[in-house]
Amino acid sequence: MSNTTTVSVAGPSQGVKAPSGGSEVRAATSVGVTSSPFWSTGIDRLKAYVPGEQPQSDGWVKLNTNECPYPPSPLALAAIREATSEKLRLYPDPNGTALKAAIGKQFGLGSDHVFLGNGSDEVLGHAFLGLLKHELPILYPDISYSFYPVWCGLYGIAYKLVPLNAEFGVDVADYAQPNGGIVLPNPNAPTGTALSLEALRTLLQANRQSVVLIDEAYVDFGAQSAAALIPEFDNLLVVHTLSKSRALAGLRVGFALGHPTLIEALARVKDSFNSYPLDRLALVGAQAAIEDTAYLAQLTSAVIHSRDWLIAELAGLGFDTLPSQANFIFTRHANRLAATLLAQLREQKILVRHFTQARIANHLRISIGTQAECELLVQALQRILAAQPDQKNEVSA
Ligand SMILES: Cc1ncc(COP(=O)(O)O)c(C=O)c1O
Repeated sequence: MSNTTTVSVAGPSQGVKAPSGGSEVRAATSVGVTSSPFWSTGIDRLKAYVPGEQPQSDGWVKLNTNECPYPPSPLALAAIREATSEKLRLYPDPNGTALKAAIGKQFGLGSDHVFLGNGSDEVLGHAFLGLLKHELPILYPDISYSFYPVWCGLYGIAYKLVPLNAEFGVDVADYAQPNGGIVLPNPNAPTGTALSLEALRTLLQANRQSVVLIDEAYVDFGAQSAAALIPEFDNLLVVHTLSKSRALAGLRVGFALGHPTLIEALARVKDSFNSYPLDRLALVGAQAAIEDTAYLAQLTSAVIHSRDWLIAELAGLGFDTLPSQANFIFTRHANRLAATLLAQLREQKILVRHFTQARIANHLRISIGTQAECELLVQALQRILAAQPDQKNEVSA
């Protein structure tokens, strides 16, 4: 259990501060301005999330945003094609009735336990506003999904960072402190390590007074879903996405599972913002993808196989990689700077992700590509490492 807790610098007296947004925040607009009299109050102080690069030209090996390297389920594509019809003149079902029923069936829950959103980012954003804005600060790991501080900034939610332990893992005992909610990605991002269901149960048993949100964007790549605990805990919200294991990042579908009381708060936020977050194509495509469980198993086992191969190959090249239960790995080289490797890989048209936050500034997060892409990465790293004698590592992380 770690003994230090970072309190984000917030309100001057409270020790909980206007969220800083971490390292990946937007300082100025694309036209270079930082404020304008036309803007509503506070917009100049927003620190927006900066998504990973989406190159606009071909020929890149894209291992930077944790997409699936394989195509979506053929059944999902067929359903989308079929729905591309004159019916697009009509609004979609605002409640996503059929999709909710399909998701509920997969998890053994009623449709009233399901909430749908335009990607899990929208679901998470609604949860921050609808369930996590209280007097006490919410808790989440110091190294975690960099959108969380952005929502805190947008909605004025106080937060407190709980340090990962020395092995970059989550110790649930560190969360036994007063809070307005707990947010944990499981597996964590960008580290890729996961908590067991038993650890999550321990966390929930110790924390019945506020919402515990488990962000399971990567759960299908080897971790256990907390959805099984929903009947036991009415304060548990589990959030999923179809962007990773179901290869549908471009369709923008995410969902939450939880007690109907929690779902109702999300529905109120949604219907105060946009009644139709999922279009007709997304609704049918997502339903077919959710129902195609055989294809999901095929995709995830291919990714897991390449992940394990890549970790072993990188070890041979002097990389130290955290155990991963996600579709990405978090790795550092014994004596090469991550920022330099990032640039050298980019020169070879391979994109990976680097975060400048102090504790992880010498790590790279690498999404698992196809087996062929993983092999290209290893070959590129072999060339890079052979081209220069070892440098002394200048970053301690
Ligand atoms: C931990 C985590 N949660 C949520 C998301 C959002 O996924 P999406 O909005 O594509 O569903 C991501 C995206 O990378 C993520 O890493």
